[in-house]
Parts: sequence; C-alpha cells; structure tokens
Amino acid sequence: MKFFIDSADIEEIRKAKSYGIVDGVTTNPSLIAKIGTERDETVKDILAESDWPVSIEVISTDTEGMLKEAYEIAKLGKNAVVKIPMTLEGLAAVKELSAKGVKTNVTLIFSANQALLAAKVGANYVSPFIGRLDDKGEDGMQLVRDIVQIYRNYGFETEVLVASIRSKEHVLQAALTGAHVSTVPMKVLEELAKHELTDAGLAKFLEDWKNRKK
Ligand code: G3P
Repeated sequence: MKFFIDSADIEEIRKAKSYGIVDGVTTNPSLIAKIGTERDETVKDILAESDWPVSIEVISTDTEGMLKEAYEIAKLGKNAVVKIPMTLEGLAAVKELSAKGVKTNVTLIFSANQALLAAKVGANYVSPFIGRLDDKGEDGMQLVRDIVQIYRNYGFETEVLVASIRSKEHVLQAALTGAHVSTVPMKVLEELAKHELTDAGLAKFLEDWKNRKK
C-alpha cells in the first residue's frame, strides 16, 4: 500500500519525505487555506519537492470552470493530479481530462455507486472519506471494502485512495481491504512507526549497553 501525506504544509511534507515512507501528497482547499497563501503559490513548492503525485483541487463547480482550472493545475508540474469533486459536472470534467491524459482524483466519495461512476469516466484515483462517514455513525471502512470489490469485479484500474483517515487503526483496516493508497495526516503517519514495547525495548538495550562490563 502506498502512503500519501495529507498536507499543504511544505515543512511537514519535507519532514515526511525524510522518513522515506511516503509516496505522494494530497491537498484540499481547507488545508491550503490554513497555509494562508494562494493555491498555485503553495502547490508550486510541493510539486517541485519530488516527483510524487500531488493532488490539487479545483474550486469551480461547473464543468467548464473545472476544466479551465484543471488545465492550469496540470501545467504547474508533470506530477500534478487534479482533484475534482464528485458531482455530475465533475464527472463530465473527468471524462474529458482522462481522454486528454490529465491525471485526476475524484474526491468527496461517500458511496460505492459514486466510486463506480468515477471509475467509469477514467479517474486515476477515487477518495472515499472514511472518517466523515464514521462521524455520522456509519462504517467508513465498509465503503472501502465495497469499492475495492467492485473495482476487482470489473478490472478497473482506478486506485482507491483512502482519505479522511484519523487513526492508525484506520490505516491497518485500509491495508486489509487491499486499497491502493492511504492518505494520512502527519500525526497518524508518525504514530504508525510507534509501539510502547519498541520504546521500552530500546531503552533497555541502551541501558544494558551502558552498564556492560568493561
Ligand atoms: O484527504 C481528505 C482529508 O483531508 C479530509 O479529512 O479529517 O477533514 O475529514 P478530514
């Protein structure tokens, strides 16, 4: 399973890169708004940081506007992936972008039927938001299982990018479904590497080494 970092903060992205365990970046308008600069300015540095795929979302909601923005985003870097919201207008945009070879990520997926439609129009990635479904008392991971199964049934090449991940348990369950990618906030990424017994074991090894017979 690939790991993407869900962030628009270049320092955080650089830190994630230094760990050697990340394969891409996802951003969204809320994450970019937190940085406080214009979208294209923020993503320019992120795109230049590596050849990782970087998802960058359009703001327009009509097909024509989304397409105009998508072509501008695609020009920012060859690793740019245009993030398009899951609407009928968005699907029409993805259909054209896919025919033109522009990479797309259909976002705000909350049902398997939506994921099926996104795959049909040639999306490269679909982003089911599992944490937000859990927040509503639904089972976000079941959505991922359903999408993975449907894509297997029909041989779709669209990658399932599990988003709105809030915990390391989410990552574990996503990996068990066979989903292609988990996009995770920095906090969750760092937690994945941690275990209290690792810390305790390391402390003991170092203590024993310090007290060795010389
Ligand atoms: O990748 C989508 C993600 O940023 C949304 O996460 O926690 O706002 O639901 P969250």
